Amino acid sequence: MEKATTSVRVLKVELTKIKDNDLLIGFFKEKLRLGNEFREFENIISSYIKDNDFKGEKGEVKSIYANKNVKNIVLVGLGEEERYNFEVLTNTIGDVSKRLRDNGTQSFSIYLNSFINSKLKGDEAVEKITLACLIGLYKFTEYKTKDMDKIKAIKQITILTNSNKNFDRELKYSSVVAEALNKTRDFVNTPPNIATPEYIASYAKEIAKNYSLKCSVFDEKQIEKMKMGCLIGVAQGSVNKPRLVVLEYHGNDKKQKPIALVGKGVTFDSGGLNLKPYPYILNMKDDKGGALASIHVIEACARLKFPINLVVITPLCENMIDATSFRPDDILTAYNGMTVEIKNTDAEGRLILADALSYVAELKPEVIIDIATLTGASMITLGYVATPFLSTDEKLSQKVKAASQKSLEKVWELPLWPEFEDNLKSDVADIKNISEEGDAGVIIGATFLKNFVNDVPWVHIDIGTTVWSKVDKGILTKGATGATVRLMMEMFREWR
Ligand code: BES
Ligand code: MN
Ligand code: ZN
Repeated sequence: MEKATTSVRVLKVELTKIKDNDLLIGFFKEKLRLGNEFREFENIISSYIKDNDFKGEKGEVKSIYANKNVKNIVLVGLGEEERYNFEVLTNTIGDVSKRLRDNGTQSFSIYLNSFINSKLKGDEAVEKITLACLIGLYKFTEYKTKDMDKIKAIKQITILTNSNKNFDRELKYSSVVAEALNKTRDFVNTPPNIATPEYIASYAKEIAKNYSLKCSVFDEKQIEKMKMGCLIGVAQGSVNKPRLVVLEYHGNDKKQKPIALVGKGVTFDSGGLNLKPYPYILNMKDDKGGALASIHVIEACARLKFPINLVVITPLCENMIDATSFRPDDILTAYNGMTVEIKNTDAEGRLILADALSYVAELKPEVIIDIATLTGASMITLGYVATPFLSTDEKLSQKVKAASQKSLEKVWELPLWPEFEDNLKSDVADIKNISEEGDAGVIIGATFLKNFVNDVPWVHIDIGTTVWSKVDKGILTKGATGATVRLMMEMFREWR
């Protein structure tokens, strides 16, 4: 079955000339005036407004049957104008798109002028609307074999403007980012019996071929030879053998130091011998979210020809139970020679990242960014609302915060104070992999990783919670979220 694709375009056309199924018009609360351009629909709309059937409240949507060139006029409430911003716009468009799709609409138009004002400019609005539609309408249907005809999809979305501006740049940016984000979701949603380390590694090779990236894939033997003892240790209980993927993109002078992006790729995290009990073992296919975001971000950077050098490295393995599994009390030796005492086999992400981080630190990149579903404690810290991050470098953390503002992906910084280091002291090795106090989980995870980045400015992003959504809301669809794809793309777009 062919995958449904939605396309978004911008058209300069008068309202009276539109022919479409639905036309979306935004209204601020208590500002329900209709401009001249609406004369054709004025009677229909103003009677609704007069009868107080529509107030312009945030989240309010009224569909009016017009039976003209436009079948339905959709009044979309935007709330108080003073509180309106790109986040309200994005969530509103996400919600309305889903609703129209579920009602069976196949195409609709958005009247741009009614969704912008002096604060929200047209070009950025086109970008945000496009992104909101394309990621808001995402659905994972790959494994449905029944009732395929009942799966609904929007084919065409038209953004109507009276401006002469060309919006190709904005459309291109948003469609590339949306595709990267949705493909990240597809892979993270793919079950662990299919999406094995080998499967993801061969996909990375395919991407590399399409966009002439350099790609190296190391197998178990090579990983062992490279002395990545932690990745080998975590992987050794699984029949699905580990891989290490290294992807390189050069969009800048080759002499410029690259940005290094490291993504945790555990294709299934059973917890190992410290087995996760039900229901915590459910959904542990999402433990590869960091790796898949990284792979799709480098692909998108290449597609958009960003003027940066980027290297992506993803340790890929499965954390399983077997007679050959690594155990609590084992001591593993990381790539940089540090010995690690295992106190809990479920703290495996930091182990495979230890090898990947110290490997990439040797290349002396400009900065290292790691993206990892590292802790369940991220849930206690910021819930599903925001992603916690920690950094050794003030300038880098400012960059993350600026990208967060632009991309609308919420992040919040936690401290990396040296006091936390005491909790990881081991009696027998250089360090242990957990704090047995069970305290400050997100910070302790980052404190462990800090040992493997040398002096390279570094940021750790813990998507343990935000990798997954339990709701269909705004731009979210139940399942994988594609967390950090928008954040990274905004950051690399304005690097330096
Ligand atoms: N992949 C998990 C983190 C996780 C848990 C992500 C739940 C999403 C939902 C990670 O490998 C893990 O198991 N972390 C442990 C660390 C603990 C043993 C110190 C955790 O958070 O419980
Ligand atoms: Mn784990
Ligand atoms: Zn894990």
